[in-house]
Amino acid sequence: MQRGKFIVFEGGEGSGKTTIVDMLRKEFSDFVYTQDPGGTALGHQIRDLLMSERTKGIDVRAELLLFLAARAQMVSEIIVPALESGTHVISNRFALSSIAYQIYGRQKPELLPLYTKVSDIILENCKPDATIFLDVSPEVGIARVHSREEEPTRFDNESIEFHTRVREGYKKHLAEFGTPVVIDADKPLEEVWTEVLKTVQSLL
Ligand code: TMP
Repeated sequence: MQRGKFIVFEGGEGSGKTTIVDMLRKEFSDFVYTQDPGGTALGHQIRDLLMSERTKGIDVRAELLLFLAARAQMVSEIIVPALESGTHVISNRFALSSIAYQIYGRQKPELLPLYTKVSDIILENCKPDATIFLDVSPEVGIARVHSREEEPTRFDNESIEFHTRVREGYKKHLAEFGTPVVIDADKPLEEVWTEVLKTVQSLL
């Protein structure tokens, strides 16, 4: 049986990933969709903890390891079984987010070996075929986040400088996560969607 394709969407806050993934869900209803952190019962609990103010100021190693723990569960419970059964998988965020946020955003280059060592083990057999980076400028993205009804998370509330470093991390490491695709997400949603659809069809 042919292995499914694994396509990841990445991007800063307000880049439109969730809206785009919801649109893909309607277009390709036979794919498996997941969200990092999340996707599993354990992942959702870790997500709730990480997004809330309860974890404000936690040690960055602890923060990184919690994201990695949620991902380990998602890889083994959802992604690998789907790919091995020939189903395509779309994930809203994945490992590149940890480099962008914990290593670059939090300015902890010394934690890259920790990320790499653990990821080499948990991502074995689970490399993205392509990562589509929805590239939004931090000012545009954060303005979008604050115009939403939902409460911003503790990551949304980080400074513009933090989000600028996250964007830099994304750009530097994008090519390590399968075929790299960059889409300008400052553009209106319809234009982003047209490019995303064309890209996903060409990757299958
Ligand atoms: P979102 O899925 O609603 O975008 O929220 C997830 C938040 O968690 C987002 O602010 C980015 C952050 N994050 C990290 O800091 N590290 C990670 O490894 C992942 C997957 C997400």
